[in-house]
Amino acid sequence: MVPFHFQGRTCLAIVLAAGESSRMCSARPKVLHELAGRSMLAHVLSALVETSADRIVVVASPHHDAIMAEAKTIVRDAGIAIQKERLGTAHAVLAAREAIARGYDDLLIVFADTPLVRPETFAAMRKALAGSQNVIAALGFEAKQPAGYGRFILDDGALKAIREDRDASAAEREIKTCNAGLMALDGRHALSLLDAIGNANSQKEYYLTDIVAIARSRGFEVAAAIATEDEVLGVNDRAQLAAAESILQVRLRAKAMGEGATLIDPSSVTLAFDTRLGRDAVVEPHVVFGPGVNVGDGSRIRSFSYLEGATIGQNVLVGPFARLRPGTGLAHDVHIGNFVEVKASDVGAGAKINHLSYIGDASIGAGTNVGAGTIACNYDGFAKHRTEIGAHAFIGSNSALVAPVKIGDGAYVGSGSVITRDVAPDALALARAGQVEKPGWARAFRGRNRK
Ligand code: UD1
Ligand code: MG
Repeated sequence: MVPFHFQGRTCLAIVLAAGESSRMCSARPKVLHELAGRSMLAHVLSALVETSADRIVVVASPHHDAIMAEAKTIVRDAGIAIQKERLGTAHAVLAAREAIARGYDDLLIVFADTPLVRPETFAAMRKALAGSQNVIAALGFEAKQPAGYGRFILDDGALKAIREDRDASAAEREIKTCNAGLMALDGRHALSLLDAIGNANSQKEYYLTDIVAIARSRGFEVAAAIATEDEVLGVNDRAQLAAAESILQVRLRAKAMGEGATLIDPSSVTLAFDTRLGRDAVVEPHVVFGPGVNVGDGSRIRSFSYLEGATIGQNVLVGPFARLRPGTGLAHDVHIGNFVEVKASDVGAGAKINHLSYIGDASIGAGTNVGAGTIACNYDGFAKHRTEIGAHAFIGSNSALVAPVKIGDGAYVGSGSVITRDVAPDALALARAGQVEKPGWARAFRGRNRK
């Protein structure tokens, strides 16, 4: 089936992000708070990209640098429209007047603080406009607690009006079908309808929701699209941020399991928006994935590990209690054991770093064994330096490898060495104080001290 959005209708998406974030009590703009490792704004923009919006304009308040910078990481040519004063959702949409006036077939109006809407839902809203008399498709949901939301005033299934909670009658407040706030508008009529919205309400705000009654009064049809309450959850405070996170985690875990990974205790695993788990990968309880992790088929991530920015090959064992930091690449059959930290390092096939090590800015060849307590001393207080260990080498326990340093293929480093110079292939390097033994010393010592 050809996805709907390729059927030739152009689309302008307007992302409202000029809201206040007062209830977050945060120095950061609300829409830059993260869910599953990326901002709410990024979630919304990438869903719009998946819906093939041709143009995306973000409506922001005058201090928008951070918001725009974030938007451009997802949509390089995203536009910005500034809403100088916060006079309501319709006023915010009209900040993008110039873009609207360019004449798109569809306008999608979305909120940057409503981050869980799926691309399929955006597509369904647009679909309600295509080839029909509808000039608006408003997105609604059945609210468990409708207080605070605009209500859908339905007449025989058709949407007559949306009434804001503050302006609703007691009878209207009983209605449970609520407005999610998002709308698709027919681009041919959008400007004239938006311009007709006034601010004669309790808040003296220009309500986007009034567009429904205005369209109806002009004889147009209006459609209601319905989503689940979870999908249209709006985030205004930290509790709602946490609620959105948990909904998203359920989705991400279901997707990972659907693709063939085993999560032994799904609810204890935290995934990132882009975590990729191979077939028959197993994730034990209490593992956290930051962004940018790719786990190969058949690999196992043991409990209490924390991974970010790591590419993991097939049949790898990681953890328990391992930390993989950005720039880690593990080839197939690598073993990373407990209390091992790896950063910006490549580890060759079958290599083992099983206990209590720090490996940073290093490359380790295939089949090499790195003993317990090995430290790659990569930092001299000013700059980072590389450690290069060849294939099938053996690094004895409790060695410090002072970078920059190279250890050749098949070389052997004696335990407890502090290696400051390169080691040739197949050589043995010892860099530790020689052992001294004094026969009988201990007995004599005890004799002297015994009372
Ligand atoms: C809005 C809807 C309400 C719906 C609810 C769903 C209107 C008038 N009401 O109400 O029917 O049930 O969402 O959560 O649309 N924004 C701006 N500039 C403004 C005002 C708002 O950019 O001047 C942005 C906000 O950042 C936010 C979005 O628009 O992302 C919605 O604004 P908000 O104030 O949260 O509207 P609600 O009162 O929740
Ligand atoms: Mg709101």
